[in-house]
Amino acid sequence: MTSLTMDLSRMAGEAFAAEGLDSAFGMVQVSDRPDLAQFQCNGALAAAKAAKANPRAIAEKIAARLKSDPRFAKVNIAGPGFINLDLTDAALNARMAAPEEAAKPNGQTVLIDFGGPNVAKPMHVGHLRSSVIGDCLQRLFRANGWHVVSDIHLGDWGLQMGQLISEIEIRGTAPIYFDAAFKGPYPEQSPVTMEDLEELYPAASAACKADPARLDLARRATVELQDGRPGYRALWRHFVKVSEVGLEREFSSLGVSFDLWKGESSVHDLIAPMLEDLKARGLAEMNDGALVIPVAREDDKKPMPPLLLVKSDGGVLYGTTDMATVVERTHEQNPDLVLYVVDHRQHGHFEQVFRAAEKAGLNGKAHLEHVGYGTMNGADGKPFKTRAGGVMKLYDLIAMAVVEAKSRLAEQGLGGDYSDDEREAIARQIAIATIKFADLSNHRTTDYIFDLERFSKFEGKTGPYLQYAAVRIQSILRKALSEGHVPGTPAIHSPEERDLVLELLSLGDALGAAEQKRAPNILCDYAFTLAQNFSRFYAAHHILSESDAALRASRLGLCARVLAVMTGTLGILGIAVPERM
Ligand code: ARG
Repeated sequence: MTSLTMDLSRMAGEAFAAEGLDSAFGMVQVSDRPDLAQFQCNGALAAAKAAKANPRAIAEKIAARLKSDPRFAKVNIAGPGFINLDLTDAALNARMAAPEEAAKPNGQTVLIDFGGPNVAKPMHVGHLRSSVIGDCLQRLFRANGWHVVSDIHLGDWGLQMGQLISEIEIRGTAPIYFDAAFKGPYPEQSPVTMEDLEELYPAASAACKADPARLDLARRATVELQDGRPGYRALWRHFVKVSEVGLEREFSSLGVSFDLWKGESSVHDLIAPMLEDLKARGLAEMNDGALVIPVAREDDKKPMPPLLLVKSDGGVLYGTTDMATVVERTHEQNPDLVLYVVDHRQHGHFEQVFRAAEKAGLNGKAHLEHVGYGTMNGADGKPFKTRAGGVMKLYDLIAMAVVEAKSRLAEQGLGGDYSDDEREAIARQIAIATIKFADLSNHRTTDYIFDLERFSKFEGKTGPYLQYAAVRIQSILRKALSEGHVPGTPAIHSPEERDLVLELLSLGDALGAAEQKRAPNILCDYAFTLAQNFSRFYAAHHILSESDAALRASRLGLCARVLAVMTGTLGILGIAVPERM
């Protein structure tokens, strides 16, 4: 998509070039003082610095060139050399009338690693942020023309697997998997259900914490699993299958999907050859019985421990599978960019992995980037918990938000005459919007307090408010059609319409900035401002009751455009607009 500011930048760039200056100085952005101008170009200041000239004099020359273009209603210079620009209504109308084009494929591949739940452990709100932010990023990058491959990267190969296996051995509930003489095939039916796992894992983990001998058992089971002991592998496959069914259900209720359901285990066979290669090239070395890869650099301000690849007991670690996953991705997708959407507390881990991978040249052409995020807290400022003080499961959180959404609908007098099924479906859509918008509207690196009551309101900067705004426009358009009025091409006749058009035309800027900063909150701000501009327009004008047919068609055209942009923007946030509310 070429945005309006991109076109304006090109025009200003040509003016700079005509003055013998770099056209890059022509960058135009939406004005940060909308009361003074629609757009601004600050390039004269930088150009003057580079050319050791007077900024005001340069600005005047550029302004003189731009003034000759009839599309500008105003070109003036402020302060030391800022160029303020307004377009004519005719130029804005022409831009609105131009067909909207989707972003062209940019020929680049981004791999987005997000979600990252762990097999056999219930998914909790800690994984919620990764899922919501990662899903928004995959939709955003796709909309902007990237080839996107998303990977859930399950935690399915670590100590928790050995903890479970040893727990089942101790309980003696599935002896066949531990019988060394048994030659298979192993039963198809899983010896454990998801509910069993939810009970088994915390029990095993607590036992391992309390007793070093018990932990040792779990460690050994982990190594044997990784080494390929058939009974352990068979049992492990059941854990993964059972977990995946549960996870798939939760992710689909959240409206989140992945292209790949890979995990730490997927790269197991790549680990041995990778380690051989790292050793052969002198990159990995022995340290206290463990194999490590040093990653410290001379100019490090803080200590940078080496990345641990193989423990002295032979077990591989989180960092080892992450390294082998870099190898696999370079081989399979050869991405230009890999985004790891993971809690910012894992920053140190990713710094080690990225350094090690880059040092060994495992990442191909890919830039590896950790997209960190802060914590979702409860009203007490501590990580969000259930009322009883336990870790909140995602499933329960959604259920809670659905209950809240229903009471909000009732409060607003909405949905009373709908069937129970429809009301339930709408409440679900509102609940998802509540959770996602709450999560995405703050900058991802800040911790935030999840206040269900506030975030589910139909007023203020919330998901449900934006859904409601879109639903109202839908119903205006539906009513218009039923009265035989068809939306026309929008044209500006008032300040409110001009503001609304300017906002509509800055969609491309919002999409670009959100991508560049990996910042969904920019899209939340955009959607909210658009809704506010729409309400101002709606309050000031007749639409259906407008008697001038041309005006009515133009305003309906604006409504249709706002609806399309609003629905599209909410879509990138992963939020659906109900048919009615
Ligand atoms: N399973 C991990 C966790 O729960 C997150 C995985 C993130 N992705 C990665 N490639 N390390 O913390």
